[in-house]
Amino acid sequence: MWEDSVQAIGDEPAVISNDEFSSRQSRLFSQLRPTDLLIITAPHESRRSNDVHYPYRTSSDMLYLCGWEDPDAIFCAHNEDGKWVTTLFVQPKDVLKEIWEGRRPGVEGATNNWPIDNAHSHGDMTEILSKMLVSCSRVFVKLGIDSDVDQLVEQEMKANSRDRQKLGIGPVSIVDPSNIINELRLRKSSAEINLMRHSAKIASQAHIQAMANTKPGVGEWQLEGIIEGVFKYCKSSGTAYPCIIGSGENATILHYTVNDDTCDDGEVLLIDAGCEYKGYASDITRSWPVNGKFSDAQAEIYQVVLDSQLAAIDQCRVGNKYDAPHMTARRVLAEGLIKLGIINQSLEDALLPDGELSKWYMHNTGHWLGLDVHDVGIYRPNGETRNFEEGMVITVEPGLYFGAWRPDVDCPQRYANIGIRIEDDVLITKDGPDVLSGDCPKTIVDIESIVGTA
Ligand code: GLY
Ligand code: MN
Ligand code: MN
Repeated sequence: MWEDSVQAIGDEPAVISNDEFSSRQSRLFSQLRPTDLLIITAPHESRRSNDVHYPYRTSSDMLYLCGWEDPDAIFCAHNEDGKWVTTLFVQPKDVLKEIWEGRRPGVEGATNNWPIDNAHSHGDMTEILSKMLVSCSRVFVKLGIDSDVDQLVEQEMKANSRDRQKLGIGPVSIVDPSNIINELRLRKSSAEINLMRHSAKIASQAHIQAMANTKPGVGEWQLEGIIEGVFKYCKSSGTAYPCIIGSGENATILHYTVNDDTCDDGEVLLIDAGCEYKGYASDITRSWPVNGKFSDAQAEIYQVVLDSQLAAIDQCRVGNKYDAPHMTARRVLAEGLIKLGIINQSLEDALLPDGELSKWYMHNTGHWLGLDVHDVGIYRPNGETRNFEEGMVITVEPGLYFGAWRPDVDCPQRYANIGIRIEDDVLITKDGPDVLSGDCPKTIVDIESIVGTA
């Protein structure tokens, strides 16, 4: 199964070039003033116990602006005589550390191979950054990520307040750069799209392998092992978020991640799993019968969700409001449930915030996708609902969840513990929606032809 998956995803796409990083930086700098200082921070490593750390993943803004992945890094930019100069603080070469933890590019490697002008050892950060802080007026930094940087900025703001009054220089305000960076990250370049398509191809293969290996008695954890195995075997860095692998009533729990139950005959299984490839997330959900054949009741619900998902994907077009897929998905779901006799209200009433649809469909239909699974980008800038533009990527993930365990609703017996979600990753193009996760089967016929065949 491993080699089949590798074959199916095809060649690895090119990574982001240094030219593209430089162009991202320039677009950001064009929105700053020459007296501004930009500081991009990343979280510190987190210790699990003694000598063991949690796997390190730097901040998405660091990845976006310079592609540096290692811990103890800070990216800065300041203006000298009209030219923006970028500086990266990095872990220095250290033979002993490298023997234990792995090779480091160090200052020289960073200067020679990364899209930056200067590199310095992280240990010199206080001295060098203090000087930059003294001669800037606005500091663009996201607070709360690197406490060392936060303290330094606060200290310099305080220490220079007197000089600032006398000389007119020194930091006067702290601004969160997220608004500017998030707008850039929202629209994906063709290189980013290639990476995201590859990420979605890997995740599609993982779902196909999980389908093929599903039969009554299999453990949710075993399918998790297969999914994560495919992710790794296909050279992604792993999951983009904890896998959701829920059978039976677990399929009706939106973010179920315990994955320790056995999948039983007659149940529906819902798997929401995506990987991270070169920093870019995929996010796919499929739902299928454990025994390989949808019961009539399961097929009725599945088809309603699939119809709503297809109609919602069709709304992912340049110029449409970003929430058009959600509105459409809700309408098709409500119509379907009225037809099945599950909702006994008019369509209009069913769609109200307290209408009957929200008993069985209680989440939004999608979110931006990119370096983060719930990616950045304001949905309603200045209170106005955003329109889709070319290069945006959104998930489309309607679902219906009939949790018979819920005390707050009367679950129809025929549909007890059926949980269905179908989620794809959709790129907005001038030619209409491009489903990046299109390799992952989702019709009833296609799914039934795969489940249990391993
Ligand atoms: N996998 C989380 C979500 O679909 O939003
Ligand atoms: Mn999602
Ligand atoms: Mn998901």
